Amino acid sequence: MNLVILGAPGSGKGTQAARIAERARIRHISTGDLLRDAVAKGTDIGKRAAGIMAAGRLVPDEIVLELLRNKLMNDEERSRFGGWILDGFPRTLAQAEALEGVLDGAGEKIDGVVCIEIDPEAVVNRLSNRRTCASCKAVYHLVSNPPAVEGECDACGGKLVLRDDDKPETIRKRLEIYKKETLPILALYEKRYRVYRVDGSKPIDEVMSKISGLIGL
Ligand code: AP5
Repeated sequence: MNLVILGAPGSGKGTQAARIAERARIRHISTGDLLRDAVAKGTDIGKRAAGIMAAGRLVPDEIVLELLRNKLMNDEERSRFGGWILDGFPRTLAQAEALEGVLDGAGEKIDGVVCIEIDPEAVVNRLSNRRTCASCKAVYHLVSNPPAVEGECDACGGKLVLRDDDKPETIRKRLEIYKKETLPILALYEKRYRVYRVDGSKPIDEVMSKISGLIGL
């Protein structure tokens, strides 16, 4: 099963994509995580992306596409999993069209699109309370999904950190860009694929069970 998950920053894409991937035994491919890894490792891509990400702007399409293509077409990973869920990609119409080209070349296709809908104002609160594991990338929320031990990841014991781009002014910039650059993809996908819309303001488990029902997990 090959899926794309769309939604504003903080809508819960990463949280739900990780759960869907685990349950469906597919790969969770997050371009945000790939970029943050590149920044942490200090690669050329990471050096180019760091300032752009901290400012809440989009990294140029060609950089993200290269990262995405390498990950998506990794033979070893393709042989181990029965599909993928893309989280954070595509983010522009140009990325959406480029993705079609990559998939056509590999004989793959998108089976469905999950879109998490949420009021932008709720997002600012969510993201300022988000903590992410610096090691395994697990995501927590200090109120709605706290770790058992403060500052420590339940899954691997890694350190929980606040992302550089989770400051209120940067969150608003990211929301603006989402509306302008990413929302138009939804109209395109409505014409091409089954799009499953879910209310992201509900509790995490409720959102997951709604998605599971819709995509038949
Ligand atoms: P990326 O990492 O993709 O960030 P984003 O899209 O802004 O989304 P977030 O990760 O902030 O939120 P989310 O929807 O995954 O929510 P989460 O599940 O964490 O991208 C970061 C940056 O990288 C971009 O700004 C850009 O610079 C660059 N980038 C990445 N991809 C790119 C691309 N394709 N092209 C160009 N640039 C790119 O949840 C948020 C919080 O809410 C958590 O604390 C969670 O525990 C909590 N939560 C989740 N669901 C619920 C719920 N239902 N109820 C209550 N709390 C909840």
